[in-house]
Amino acid sequence: MSNRLALCGGKPVIEALDKELTRWPIITEEDVAAVSDVVRCDGKASATDITRAFESEWASYNGVRFALGVCNGTAGLAEALWALGVGAGDEVISPSLTYWATCAPALQLGASIRFADIDPVSLCLDVADVERKLSPKTKVICAVNYAGYPADWDGLRALASSRGIGLLEDNSHGHGSMYGSRMCGSLGDIAVASMMSSKGFAIGEAGMVTTDREDLYQRCIAYGHYERTFASKYSDALEGERLPELVPFSGIPIGGCKHRMNQMCSALGRVQLKHYPERLQEVDRAMNALCDILDSVPCIRSHRPPAGSGLTKGAWYFPLARYDSSKLGGVSLATFSAALRAEGFGAYPGANAPLHRHPYFRDLDYFRQGTPTVRVFGQESLDDVNCDAMLPETVKTIGTIFRITRFTRYDKAVLEKHRVALEKVVSQVDALLDWQKNSNSK
Ligand SMILES: Cc1ncc(COP(=O)(O)O)c(C=O)c1O
Repeated sequence: MSNRLALCGGKPVIEALDKELTRWPIITEEDVAAVSDVVRCDGKASATDITRAFESEWASYNGVRFALGVCNGTAGLAEALWALGVGAGDEVISPSLTYWATCAPALQLGASIRFADIDPVSLCLDVADVERKLSPKTKVICAVNYAGYPADWDGLRALASSRGIGLLEDNSHGHGSMYGSRMCGSLGDIAVASMMSSKGFAIGEAGMVTTDREDLYQRCIAYGHYERTFASKYSDALEGERLPELVPFSGIPIGGCKHRMNQMCSALGRVQLKHYPERLQEVDRAMNALCDILDSVPCIRSHRPPAGSGLTKGAWYFPLARYDSSKLGGVSLATFSAALRAEGFGAYPGANAPLHRHPYFRDLDYFRQGTPTVRVFGQESLDDVNCDAMLPETVKTIGTIFRITRFTRYDKAVLEKHRVALEKVVSQVDALLDWQKNSNSK
């Protein structure tokens, strides 16, 4: 059989993938029945009884005291930042390699965003660089369990506690990930998980805030859940002991926004959660097998915690691998990934575009005061910190990382074909370089 690369006109190793192998979320009649019960019942979608049941189940799954359902992760992050005390003139620290919602809501509160670099292995915040980026104005560190890989929570906790800074855990990628004996989502002072339709725990357009601290929980309710601050037709019970400073504002959300989770999502969430641990085991099995294949060639390092580290990747949202072109004769990531895709092996260069390069975080005058909001309250210029030169690992990572297929079911034969496809590509450096030269000269 000819071993000609599919990129150069040969036959691909992998035919079209069976969609069942990557389907997510897994929806059965049980999910459909739960959602349709809500839809069929007048006024049920905006009530909170099912959401409260889901919250209590999610809290016990995450090992925390409180969980609060929200309409999406972005809303949850806004209320968590406010709950942690972020206000005008403050700074929050965030990775640049993340989705904008990790830190963008800080701008609404009049705060600046200062980016810190990432650790090259975990791709999560590098604690030493966070320490370098702290200023007297730093109020909160927003850390992400990026692509499901837990951040260095011991290091972040030690730093935040020693400086009296809040720790916000953006767990939008890490549902079900473990950090030793603790679940991601229980590691910051407060945590937020997006549960939108593409996520590791996917129930439409929703999110969840989790915390052990009742004061933070109460502040989140006050910020965006006015229906829980007084007895109403949507909410027949007040939520716990309320902080005296919040009581006068009962009936109107302090954030001027409605963050309630709709109960179609809550109903779906309850069913999904019931089956979640078992489904994660299958994802883990399939993805570890794919990563073993990737790690068998020197030019790739899969993005997963070392075996025996006690860290896990939950649902493997956004699975990634790193490519080192120097270990494959200088073949570029673009060429290498194109060759893999031609063989039917999913490989897509890049991840989130780094936020520090976006004008939003530099130029936007949110409060229309004639000055970019990141500097409007007399901040020092952030030009020299929110730049490529100050975030070297972030910049390097963007050029070397690629997304791989997220298998949600294990199929030995299909995985074996991935091994064959990978070996076929890495064994033909000359053909890859020729193709690269020709495509560059076009
Ligand atoms: C890291 C991260 N944070 C926050 C969010 C925001 O969540 P949502 O889309 O539910 O508002 C997302 C999701 O897209 C995300 O990936």
